[in-house]
Amino acid sequence: MSIRLSNGKEIPIEMHKVRIVQKTQLPPARERLRAMDEAGYNTFLLRTRDVFLDMLTDSGTNAMSDNQLAAMMVADDAYAGSESFYKLESAVTDIFGMQHVLPTHQGRAAEHLLAKVFVKQGDVVPMNYHFTTTRAHFEMAGGTVLEIFTDEALNTQSTCPFKGNLDLNKFQKVIDQYGASRISFVRMEATTNLLGGQPFSLGNFRQVSEMAHKNGILLVIDGSLISENAYFIKQREAGYENKSIAEIILEIMSLADICYLSGRKSCSARGGFISTANKAHYDAIRPWLPLYEGFTTYGGMSTKEVEAMAVGVREMVETEVAGASADQVKYFVDRLRENGVPVVTPAGGLACHVDAKLFLPHIPSLEYPAGALSAAIYICSGIRSMERGTVSMDRDKDGNELASDLELARLAVPRRVYTMSHMEYAADRLAWLLKHRDMVKGLKFVEEPPVLRFFFGRMVPLENWSAKLAEKFEKDFGPAA
Ligand SMILES: Cc1ncc(COP(=O)(O)O)c(C=O)c1O
Repeated sequence: MSIRLSNGKEIPIEMHKVRIVQKTQLPPARERLRAMDEAGYNTFLLRTRDVFLDMLTDSGTNAMSDNQLAAMMVADDAYAGSESFYKLESAVTDIFGMQHVLPTHQGRAAEHLLAKVFVKQGDVVPMNYHFTTTRAHFEMAGGTVLEIFTDEALNTQSTCPFKGNLDLNKFQKVIDQYGASRISFVRMEATTNLLGGQPFSLGNFRQVSEMAHKNGILLVIDGSLISENAYFIKQREAGYENKSIAEIILEIMSLADICYLSGRKSCSARGGFISTANKAHYDAIRPWLPLYEGFTTYGGMSTKEVEAMAVGVREMVETEVAGASADQVKYFVDRLRENGVPVVTPAGGLACHVDAKLFLPHIPSLEYPAGALSAAIYICSGIRSMERGTVSMDRDKDGNELASDLELARLAVPRRVYTMSHMEYAADRLAWLLKHRDMVKGLKFVEEPPVLRFFFGRMVPLENWSAKLAEKFEKDFGPAA
């Protein structure tokens, strides 16, 4: 939620009290340089003891509510028939309007099951944008991911409120070219993560649903960030300003055949699930669940997490919960823009995305500008962000590099974890870095795994730029900063 101050300024206001805190520490720049060298210029390989603000992801890092923690204490541990599962099933039925629920240990496990059941060799899977694990699972099953976003989606400096929309003309062309039988399903991702947390509109979603169903194609929604997408619809789409988040989510789900999600985001828990109102789809997926995940009433999750997710599903429709990260992201984006830092606009859900192509225009894609920017941000602030650019793309079948459409350093804003002073600090250090951006050069792989290379790949800085940057920082701020 945001509140207007008497001077007219809008600030995000926390509609909760902080009752439990966790200590953090800010190692000095020299230590940060050492930690980054040890991590191979890959922020995934940093240890949290070396991190001040952990903005790597909002996945599984949100603050839980008192009710979620309380629910975990009454978890019903049982291999089969756990009461905890029935609470989750009832929450999903109420909030999503889908009564068949298959729990999975994470969102990517749900993707694995959907790939197993629906994606055949030679299929295509059109979508508004891919997520890393989504693409990997669907391609491993023999499918090809087709991204059919609108032209505006890749414009990082935009005012378009719904950059997560699917381009309907492109969708028609895919149907004409491949025919419905080769389309596993059309996938719509809520608050598209890799596009900068940009939502789709309900109007667009309805049209996708109509086109898909007219042609006998299933519509699958990735609802990992569904409450944020609903929050943006409420804020930005005419006709929805007086609807509740719950009503908007129900309307979205009524248009889809299957929903799957990572419970680590909007639901502020850890786990995932697939839900559907269609018994035939449920029956097709269910046999595989015990093989890959676990029995149908826990699906690889601890029952404590099942309980937390059941509460999280109900809580995420509260407006202040749905907007907890979006409002802070907006504040952060506005502060960065005031300082001239190029960020993806409009402000999205989950994170503030810095456009590394604009921030570091002298670094070519294959020297990984977003990777270099993430490393530089850490060295000058202790803030851990995530590279979302060419490092996050795997090579093609012939071993060629694929330059990413966008080069983004993503600073995630986990729900209810950080405060305004943290945002001010982050904005200040990024402004300092912008002034010294010419010092930052590219990166080079020295260890490159064959799949999802961004997780474990190791790089080195070209021209030893990081040591020079740390030295300059120390000169400006002193050895303790
Ligand atoms: C949109 C989206 N889909 C799927 C996933 C995968 O979920 P998980 O990390 O729980 O496996 C993520 C995770 O970040 C995501 O953002």
